[in-house]
Amino acid sequence: MSKPKVLVTRRWPDAVEARLKALYDVTLNETDVPMTADAMRQALKDYDAFCPTVSDKVDATVLDVAGARTRIIASYGVGYSHIDTEAAKKAGFVVTNTPEVLSECTADLAITLMLMAARRAGEGEREVRAGNWIGWRPTHMIGTKVSGGTFGVLGFGRIGREAAKRAHGGFGMKVIYFDPFPVKPELAAETGAEKRDTIEEVLREADVVSLHMPGGKDNYHLINAERLKMMKPTAILVNSARGEVIDGKALAEALKAGTIKGAGLDVFEGEPRIEPTLLECENAVLLPHLGSATQATREAMGWRVLENLEAFFAGQAPRDRVA
Ligand code: DGY
Repeated sequence: MSKPKVLVTRRWPDAVEARLKALYDVTLNETDVPMTADAMRQALKDYDAFCPTVSDKVDATVLDVAGARTRIIASYGVGYSHIDTEAAKKAGFVVTNTPEVLSECTADLAITLMLMAARRAGEGEREVRAGNWIGWRPTHMIGTKVSGGTFGVLGFGRIGREAAKRAHGGFGMKVIYFDPFPVKPELAAETGAEKRDTIEEVLREADVVSLHMPGGKDNYHLINAERLKMMKPTAILVNSARGEVIDGKALAEALKAGTIKGAGLDVFEGEPRIEPTLLECENAVLLPHLGSATQATREAMGWRVLENLEAFFAGQAPRDRVA
């Protein structure tokens, strides 16, 4: 029997690519740049499995393809708002993601952003590299103390809870959260996290607000001008979830006006484009979507895709089916 044909839209870690090639007839997009919608449509006609990443826009125009050979879209990443799962379901594609394996590293990055923004680490580094540092002085580049403050989590899923553990265990922060879905009491108990009934309550009370909800239309611009005004003027906003959750223009205005103190952002609406007014904000830390970017995690994500493919081609239910 011939091996299933698999198309992978980007380069993956070497070990995972090698295993994938041993199991399947694999085509890699060696250019490592996003494929066009037309190329993705063609891939759905030519391959049994299609493996996109979070930066491939697999929307209804791509999925609505006559004579598709693909049966499984096995995405490399946990978030799947880049795939129109309704359209995928309608067209008969199985869709999988890679949850759990990146929770710790993404939470580590949320804490990195919190500390960088609160302690003005980006600004400080820029000053040193530019040769503008004139030496230690008591009033130089004063930041915000996060230890002992309140860490507000919006979206108390796996990554949100990991971030809360770090904030609570490492920095003695009180944890409050809002999640529209029920959270098991024992999971909240790990950090003594207190539930709030609305997003607004978290925004008003927290010293640091960390976003961990999915992207997509339900959470589009959830953090807008009106909600930014509810935050404390001393507060830090952290986003390691999805860019479209924040109205970037409104955030830049809030950062410039001092409505909030600072922001740490790893994700951007329409990335790699960045809202130009955000680039003007010294008090914004801007990272290039590094949440899961460690060797161990990127390999683990690949193994998880392989696990899903193997189950699917063995006629079993893939562990991480989302559509
Ligand atoms: C994901 O997997 O959703 C992340 O954003 C990639 O790090």
